Amino acid sequence: MIKIAPSLLAGDFSRMGEEVANLDRWGSDLIHLDVMDGHFVPNITFGADVVRSLRGYTQAGFDTHLMISRPLDFIEDFALAGADIITFNLEASSPADETIALIGRCGCVPSVCIKPATPAEAVFPYLDKVGMVLVMTVEPGFGGQQMLDYTLEKIKTIRRECLTRGLDTDIEADGGINAQNVGTVAAAGANVIVAGSAVFRSADPAGTIARLRAAAQEKYLGAIADAGGGHARA
Ligand code: DX5
Ligand code: ZN
Repeated sequence: MIKIAPSLLAGDFSRMGEEVANLDRWGSDLIHLDVMDGHFVPNITFGADVVRSLRGYTQAGFDTHLMISRPLDFIEDFALAGADIITFNLEASSPADETIALIGRCGCVPSVCIKPATPAEAVFPYLDKVGMVLVMTVEPGFGGQQMLDYTLEKIKTIRRECLTRGLDTDIEADGGINAQNVGTVAAAGANVIVAGSAVFRSADPAGTIARLRAAAQEKYLGAIADAGGGHARA
């Protein structure tokens, strides 16, 4: 149940298709695509047309992370482009319920994201309606930052709430994660792990992905067992 979702953000944008194929070959469970609009975050990356052009390079799921101000206006574009999971930020200006419903109607998995300063409880009203929750472990906008340790407490809170409600919701952690700290992230209750720099700057990306998965797996199982959740042991 651990999924490693390397972020294309740290790859070579002049060879995006090849980099996506590389991520697939290296053993990624999902491909994490960071969409930034220069408004919700102070950086611009790429949009739905680029996602569409990458679709042919892998069978792996596209974990589409929208860091944009008006996600509702672009859900259909990203779904048609081949997104599988669509994540949007609760701090963005679109109505969350409507956005979640549209993602579902488009045949994608809805996912909500919170920035480091947003409390864990902000996602509680949506837990029954989403397949995944993304907890940012850095301020969104740039790769290569250091993980903010205080965000792990929020992962714990959300995992505890999911277990209480009997939900096996995926919890994704994103930003500054590497082989050294992935254990603490998984121990907090995250089972979908984004890693950009750690994978692309590695001399052995396939080995790094395997190590991230193994380290996360061990700690995650322990965390779920301690919290009294049974589903994750199967
Ligand atoms: C940040 C992005 C992340 C990030 C991951 O806004 O959402 O996906 O780039 O990259 P690393 O692992 O380098 O922090
Ligand atoms: Zn991301």
